[in-house]
Amino acid sequence: MRIAVRFAFTALVLTAACGGAADSSSADAAAAAPAASVDPATLDPKTITPQELALGDSLFHGLIGATSCQACHGPDAKGGTVAPNLTDAEWLHSDGSFGAIYHQIETGVPQPKQYLGVMPPFGGAPLTPEKHRAVAAYVYSLSHPVGK
Ligand code: HEC
Repeated sequence: MRIAVRFAFTALVLTAACGGAADSSSADAAAAAPAASVDPATLDPKTITPQELALGDSLFHGLIGATSCQACHGPDAKGGTVAPNLTDAEWLHSDGSFGAIYHQIETGVPQPKQYLGVMPPFGGAPLTPEKHRAVAAYVYSLSHPVGK
């Protein structure tokens, strides 16, 4: 009888532990959710910092991280045979605002308008929200005065 009670107790503790583990992973998902759902319309170019531009520059050129935007858009971002110029005032997919560029990087371009190949989301490898914002800020700064 005593053993049975102990077994029941152990089972209860194990169930609680599993429940706890499930809770913590859903807490992780909840913590990631707000970052993933940044409303691009709320991104204010006035909040772009020089540090962010430097980080975005390194990301664009593939110096850090797994994605190299320059591989397709060129080292000067002026485009090439596979991807368009990101430094002029002409935008194929948006109004070229900070928020729109941020959003574009996230979705990629599944249906290109002028070039033959697609752009994968984030250029190929997912970016943290911080890096996502930084590379968007960098691209935005190529065609807009930032911090000037
Ligand atoms: C595999 C090649 C490739 C990579 C890598 C790539 N792009 Fe692109 N990108 C494209 C193509 C193709 C288009 C759309 C061309 C079209 O519509 O004809 C595009 C479009 C864009 C646009 C929209 C341009 C417009 O005129 O509206 C932005 C912004 C952009 N890319 C930013 C980036 C950034 C930032 C990165 C790196 C995180 C990146 N791209 C990586 C191929 C690439």
